[in-house]
Amino acid sequence: MRTLEAEMRDVASDVVARALERESCDFVSEIAARVPLYVICNMMGVPKGDWERLFELTGQAFGAADPVTRRFAHMDILQYFEDLAATRMKCPADDLVSALVSANIDGRKLSSDEVLLNCDNLLVGGTENTRIAATGGMLAFLEHPAEWRTLSKEPTSLPYAVEEVLRWTSTATHIMRTATKPVVIRDRHIEAGDRVTLWNPSANRDEAVFADSDCFNVRRRPNRHMALGYGEHFCLGGTLARCELRLLYSELLHNTKRIELDGAPVPLSSIVVNGFEKLPVKFSPRRRSASS
Ligand code: HEM
Repeated sequence: MRTLEAEMRDVASDVVARALERESCDFVSEIAARVPLYVICNMMGVPKGDWERLFELTGQAFGAADPVTRRFAHMDILQYFEDLAATRMKCPADDLVSALVSANIDGRKLSSDEVLLNCDNLLVGGTENTRIAATGGMLAFLEHPAEWRTLSKEPTSLPYAVEEVLRWTSTATHIMRTATKPVVIRDRHIEAGDRVTLWNPSANRDEAVFADSDCFNVRRRPNRHMALGYGEHFCLGGTLARCELRLLYSELLHNTKRIELDGAPVPLSSIVVNGFEKLPVKFSPRRRSASS
């Protein structure tokens, strides 16, 4: 991630600069969705000229479009990666699609379906939660302007603020496991074979773990949240998501004097992810001199 950080910073900087030109926009579609999508496209080796096309296709395939549009957009995405995988098979480069097509796992190569489905999962897994967390975090800052001011005075608190955004938004609502042996948790008996669902928004506001758990506090330390999972299946993209959130807010802090709500946020209708699908905002950009 450290190697990729400079490229990610360029992506965040371009996306935020373009949004600021308009002075008001939907934060989700103009900023929160674009940063993770462009970053994952870059990592996968999608040429920059195609990022916008994939942005439109993912919006159609996984957004509110009608089922036929969704299906066709999804097929176009799979076709796109089939073509890219074929190109990388002939001419490998330093990117994730090349890594997938040349991977050797326990002595065998991935099938073309496995390559394609991994590409598809990276595109969705690598963007959805980050988009929703970035948006929920922005709304939290708008509702707690003193916390945003603290950050602009103390940029070194940004990594802690990102942890608080992850805790506060808890975008992946739940994780289910099947118990492999009997256990007692807080006087509840769980038998082997029982299915147990952990609700992240609840765990992340556990009063026994977090002081003032209903308070959004960018200086919160320690912050042992479960937003990225725990243990063996801890989020593979956690470091990437943290870096993207930090760079995105850093660009906004650096380049705006003020950010305000410009209409009512529209919540997502989902039990799987928790957050907003629209967040209208307006900005007062910080005008910089040519030398700064
Ligand atoms: C704010 C952003 C994100 C949140 C809140 C989030 C949340 C989570 C959670 C809670 C899990 C654990 C699931 C479980 O235990 O069953 C998980 C796993 C995973 N995440 Fe994320 N995620 C985020 C970003 C990403 C990104 C950017 C990627 C990829 C580029 C990614 C890829 C994965 C993968 C592959 C797993 C499965 C790991 C395994 O089973 O070993 N995630 N994520």
